[in-house]
Amino acid sequence: MNLNIDQLRADTPGVQNVLHFNNAGCSLPIKAVVDVITEYLQLEAMVGGYEAKDQYQKTIDQFYQEAATLINASPDEIAIVGNASEGFNKALYAIPFEVGDIILTSEVEYGNNFINFLNLKKQKGIEIQIIPNDEFGNIMLEKMESMISPQVKLIAITHIPTNSGLIVPAEKIGAIAKKHNILYLLDACQSVGHMPVDVEKIQCDFLATTSRKYLRGPRGLGFLYVRKGILKKLNPPTLDMVTAHWDDVENYHLDSDVKMFENWEKSYALVLGFSKALSYLNQLGIKNTWKRIQHLSNILREKLNHIEGIKVLDIGNQKCGIVSFVLDKIPPEDLHKVLLQQSVNTSVSARFSTVIDMDKRGLSSVNRASIHYYNSEEEIDIFVKKMEYIAEQVLRKINK
Ligand SMILES: Cc1ncc(COP(=O)(O)O)c(C=O)c1O
Repeated sequence: MNLNIDQLRADTPGVQNVLHFNNAGCSLPIKAVVDVITEYLQLEAMVGGYEAKDQYQKTIDQFYQEAATLINASPDEIAIVGNASEGFNKALYAIPFEVGDIILTSEVEYGNNFINFLNLKKQKGIEIQIIPNDEFGNIMLEKMESMISPQVKLIAITHIPTNSGLIVPAEKIGAIAKKHNILYLLDACQSVGHMPVDVEKIQCDFLATTSRKYLRGPRGLGFLYVRKGILKKLNPPTLDMVTAHWDDVENYHLDSDVKMFENWEKSYALVLGFSKALSYLNQLGIKNTWKRIQHLSNILREKLNHIEGIKVLDIGNQKCGIVSFVLDKIPPEDLHKVLLQQSVNTSVSARFSTVIDMDKRGLSSVNRASIHYYNSEEEIDIFVKKMEYIAEQVLRKINK
């Protein structure tokens, strides 16, 4: 199916207002997402929160089907969580680690994830081992396999890191995890909605993602996928009344159900908005939207590469819609501000989000332009012209 770009942009009111290349931060939503949220909040105000939920129960339940369809899972393997970090952490702390267990992870791991590995090291005496990247930024799969031992309890990988256009080969890692029967947790916060992600092909046991980024849903939600077959092995770190059932003054019992990762209370307005965003994407087809993201980001990467003073910093062989770069002599934070004053949204990825990779490459922060399918070729031209102008001004100043 060919995407109707004019229609997609008409569906997205924000494109009239800003040039938005901050989709890895938070995408612009379609109008229908905002409408469903506000309409539901109005209904809550008019009939009562519990009563509104009863009226909408069937529509709310469709969320699980939409999320499952997108990642090729089953609806009873999906839990609604507050964000990707919460989903990741709930999965991580549910694994019964023992002293000496090893977590294998990557050089591009996200800050939240690594902080919690360190916490488990402190609390439970686990060990963290980092799979190295080669000189081009690709994870070394043979090296990874040589690091497998009976102590490796978990392979935890970030699929697309926050600070560069790299795609980590999640399927190849999954094949190794499966071969050695090791639990596999995927941080797919930047990849779900961005590119095709299929949990059967990847063979992960857990996957955490967020609503606001490439999925174009509202802020403050995410979902966690947990493979059905492993639920019995897990101990949720905290219990809620949907997680556990209170039997009597001495006892409670748990169901081996993915709902053990949900909170009883949640914003159903946001769930409906998230569901609408997922159904819109499922209708467009992730293969189609991914093709367009690749097309647009390749153009941007190529054009930025040709501007004197700009260095594109994306690593690895497989690249995505995130384009990371720096402009010589201009701190990324300053460039970001200059662009923002011109209604151009980009972001800055700072060291603290990906400490290992940033330190290895001697970077304290980078500029990040992240493209979505609803962006246009014209926007790329405008952006590139602005960058050419800014780079030229900087060169002039230097040569004065
Ligand atoms: C790779 C990656 N993982 C996890 C997160 C955390 O997402 P959330 O803020 O939804 O917890 C981010 C956020 O930028 C991210 O880029």
